[in-house]
Amino acid sequence: MGCFLGIDIGTSGTKTLLIDEAGKILAEATATYGTSHPKPLWSEQDPQLWWDATVATVRKTVRAAKVKPADVRAIGLSGQMHGSVFLDKNDQVLRPALLWNDQRTAAECDEIERLAGGRSELIRMVANPALTGFTAPKILWLRNREPKKFDKTRKILLPKDDVRRRMTGDYVTDVSDASGMLLLDVARRDWSTELLGKLGLDRDLFARCCESEEVTGNLTAAAAKELGLTTDCVVVGGAGDCAANALGTGVVRSGVLSTSIGTSGIMFVHSDEVQIDPQGRLHTFCHAVRGKWHMMGVSLTGGGALEWFVRNFCAEVGNPKDRGTAYKILNAEADAVPPGSEGLFFLPYLAGERTPHADPDARGSLVGLTLKHGRGHVVRAIMEGVTFAMRDSLEIIQGMGVPVKQIRASGGGSRSPLWRQMQADVFGQAAVTINAEQGPAYGVALLAAVGAGAYRSIEEACDATIKVVDKTPTRKKAKEAYDRAFPEFQQLYRSLAADFKRISALTD
Ligand code: XUL
Repeated sequence: MGCFLGIDIGTSGTKTLLIDEAGKILAEATATYGTSHPKPLWSEQDPQLWWDATVATVRKTVRAAKVKPADVRAIGLSGQMHGSVFLDKNDQVLRPALLWNDQRTAAECDEIERLAGGRSELIRMVANPALTGFTAPKILWLRNREPKKFDKTRKILLPKDDVRRRMTGDYVTDVSDASGMLLLDVARRDWSTELLGKLGLDRDLFARCCESEEVTGNLTAAAAKELGLTTDCVVVGGAGDCAANALGTGVVRSGVLSTSIGTSGIMFVHSDEVQIDPQGRLHTFCHAVRGKWHMMGVSLTGGGALEWFVRNFCAEVGNPKDRGTAYKILNAEADAVPPGSEGLFFLPYLAGERTPHADPDARGSLVGLTLKHGRGHVVRAIMEGVTFAMRDSLEIIQGMGVPVKQIRASGGGSRSPLWRQMQADVFGQAAVTINAEQGPAYGVALLAAVGAGAYRSIEEACDATIKVVDKTPTRKKAKEAYDRAFPEFQQLYRSLAADFKRISALTD
């Protein structure tokens, strides 16, 4: 029997699962870790955390599935995108990695646009504008602020690709994840030598690019021993977590859009051609489907907003040992509040915002509080604010003429029936759910199965394993209430943007 591992190196933890050739999940394990925020806009992790979590979860998963190490034929890697692992000539990590939600690089984004010859030139070369979360600004930050470390840097890898390096000894990245470095010629699916030249960055600093199902190498003897596997096990290209989640929810054809409410909130749509938002509000990246692309809007704080609220203000709710009970109680309180939260609005910009504002200074806000509002209102307003922020992305996608015939709701937040219903009502289109709930880890396990020859293509693998199981239709009255509230939500950012800048300057 052949089986395949999918490993997702996320922001709050690493999740590993094992599937058989029919796509059935045999076992899974998760190991969590923290993020450090040495300054208000900074967000960092030590890459060693990812490797330790990978080893622990692989061992646990294989043990729980009771398969022989030799049965594990291939590994697919997924991970948080955009993070920067800086390695010296001995592959030693030079400093903690800057993460996707780190916002320190506003000056470097300006520098990149200037060196590229302007914003539209940059978009022409790499399909996207410079955003603080992307990798290229982090590299310039190191060059500007920690030049001694930059001088010692020999390779710059994305989080999952550093885990790959420890597995196979190779420096390789896949095109979906590489797209988020802001250095890839997204149309040609390889590094943009033009932009690298303008930024003065040596191509040798970067990994070789491959397609997502390509086999990139075998486990080294040392890695096989540590992971409890064999050197016959191969590692495939894998994908950034957004593209991996899209595979895991079967978004491999035009017309299908997935929403994902995890730490962030993502709207992801498949595209057969490279389509670029000239204003750069949406990301255009390579898809993990060979020769295809995707467009995506990212709300930096999605489910993370509710998690933040529950962690900080609801410690006494439910069972302290099982936070799931707190979410159930708070969901019920929010469900008792009518759509629109009786005039209470939440702007979910707790970590600044990417789509559509590209504003690291944006701030989270509760607006419209009255004495009538209670905890249920606040919880509902948080969920609505996140969903409105995702509608911002949906409207841009639809405005570009990209077809959206089906919306698939995924991610931890979408497991809440209330949040699924809210999506159907706010987006004005039914939200379907599918049988596979494991998102990115499942998507890359399928890629591993394709790489090992169990399926001919990722489309075939998704068709064989992923089915729609449930549909949440739009409710007319709720949709009307949200259609009235949404323009107010949009206006609030416009009204507050200048205030956010001043508030942010206070904490610089
Ligand atoms: C995507 C993005 C996040 C991270 C974290 O552009 O920044 O989704 O990949 O999961």
